[in-house]
Formats: sequence, structure tokens, C-alpha cells
Amino acid sequence: MPAELGLPAGPPGAGWPARELVGRHPGWPARLGPLVAPAGLVALRPPKLFDAAVWSRIRLRDQSYLENWEPTAPGPWDERNTPLAWLSQWWVVRASARRGQSLPFIITVDDELAGQITIGNVVRGSLCSAWIGYWVASHIVNGGVATAAAALLVDHCFTGAGLHRVEATVRPENVASRRVLAKLGFREEGLLRRYLDVAGAWRDHVCLALTVEDVPNGLAHRLVTEGRAKFD
Ligand SMILES: CC(C)(COP(=O)(O)OP(=O)(O)OC[C@H]1O[C@@H](n2cnc3c(N)ncnc32)[C@H](O)[C@@H]1OP(=O)(O)O)[C@@H](O)C(=O)NCCC(=O)NCCS
Repeated sequence: MPAELGLPAGPPGAGWPARELVGRHPGWPARLGPLVAPAGLVALRPPKLFDAAVWSRIRLRDQSYLENWEPTAPGPWDERNTPLAWLSQWWVVRASARRGQSLPFIITVDDELAGQITIGNVVRGSLCSAWIGYWVASHIVNGGVATAAAALLVDHCFTGAGLHRVEATVRPENVASRRVLAKLGFREEGLLRRYLDVAGAWRDHVCLALTVEDVPNGLAHRLVTEGRAKFD
């Protein structure tokens, strides 16, 4: 496991992670990466209050491209994505991370905010599982950003955050997201009927997952080996 990712030396093995955990909220906060993707230098960092203006500008511009894939939420898009809306979202997200329920990250490309990626619904005990969700700004898509970001975060989940399973659910028609998960080797486990309220209706979702045993050398290492990314 490469030291430049800020991960512990050596691949996660059987029995990992329970013996290695320290503190109540392992894996948070953290800075992950960078990985060099075709679009640029991809890194992850915790969300900050000062992200409000850039976050809002991108989200307002990208409404038509994003809202078909995001869970339905109360209120119109242009009210939910103002700089002020970011402040309350940041507060809620940070509180959840501090309780150990999520690991929310800003994706940066060449140090500029380029999207978000989140590990949510962290359940520990005998499950040690969570879901992953992401979006990337429209001006930088198809440059390997989501794939690199998810690789960094899943590796972190299976090492510093001490999880055993990461699950992704995606609408069957979301070709780009399914391609991201396929590149990372996520295993399709079934179709969840009317699983999530997205864009105003209950939508079927494909369920995919990885467990720590699937990636003994890590996903970032796999991407680099396949020539999809480079270590900085
Ligand atoms: C899904 C999303 C995060 C992908 O981000 P990204 O940075 O472009 O992802 P990557 O570049 O790593 O990979 C995208 C892959 O999808 C492919 N792709 C994109 N659109 C495609 C299409 N219409 N048909 C076929 N392939 C497509 C790209 O070619 C690329 O594959 P490749 O590397 O083999 O060429 C981004 O499109 C997005 O934010 N979409 C809106 C929100 C969303 O869907 N979130 C996920 C919800 S599950």
C-alpha cells in the first residue's frame, strides 16, 4: 500500500480492521491522495465553510446534469444550492462525520473544488459497512476524476476507517456511474426495486459492493497498474 496515500503500510489482511482501530471515529477527518488522473491531480479533503461560493456556482450551473441522479429533497434546486444552503449543509455533514456516521469529502482537481464524495450510513459492529455516493462538476467529466476519488476513498475505508464492506446503489440508466463502478471492480449483487426517491419518483437501483478481501492491494494500486492513474 503506497505511503503517498497516507495509508498504513501493508495490505489489509484477514482480521483487519478491528484490532487496528483507535478512537471512536476512525478515518475522520483525513486528507487523501493525490492520484494523477487524465483530468489532473485528484485529492480529497474535508468540506470547509469557504467552499460555499464555488460549490454553489457549480451546483447552480449543473442543475440539469445532476438532478436526475440525486435523491429528492424539499424545495427548489436554486434554493437548495445557494451559498447559504451550503452553510447549513456543511454544519449537518460535519456533525454527522463527528458522530462517526459518515466520511464526507470534497474532491479537488489541481486544488480546485471539482465535486463531492461521501461515505454514508456507517454501521459498525458485526456489519462494518457503509454506502458511497459522488458527483463531479460537468466541466471536468470523463477525465477519471470520480474513479480516482472513489479508489482513494474505498482504500481509506478498508484501512484507516476500518470498514469491511462498501456498497454503491445506482440507477440502471446511469451509464457513467456504472462505468466508474465497473472500472473499480465493484460486484453487481442485485436489483433493488423502487429503492430510492430520486428526481421525484421511486427508482429501481442496481446494488454493487466491494469487501476488503476483494482488493488486497488497494484500488489506487489497481488503477495505477492498469494505467488509469499514476501516483504523484
Ligand atoms: C457519474 C460521474 C460521477 C462520473 O464522473 P467522472 O469523473 O466523469 O467519471 P470517470 O471519468 O472516472 O468515468 C466515467 C466513465 O463513464 C463513461 N461514460 C460517461 N458517459 C457515458 C455514456 N453516456 N455512455 C457510455 N459511457 C459513458 C466515460 O467514458 C468513462 O469511462 P472510460 O474511462 O472507460 O472512458 C459524473 O458523471 C456525475 O457526477 N454524474 C452526475 C451525478 C451522478 O450520477 N452521481 C452518481 C450517482 S450513483
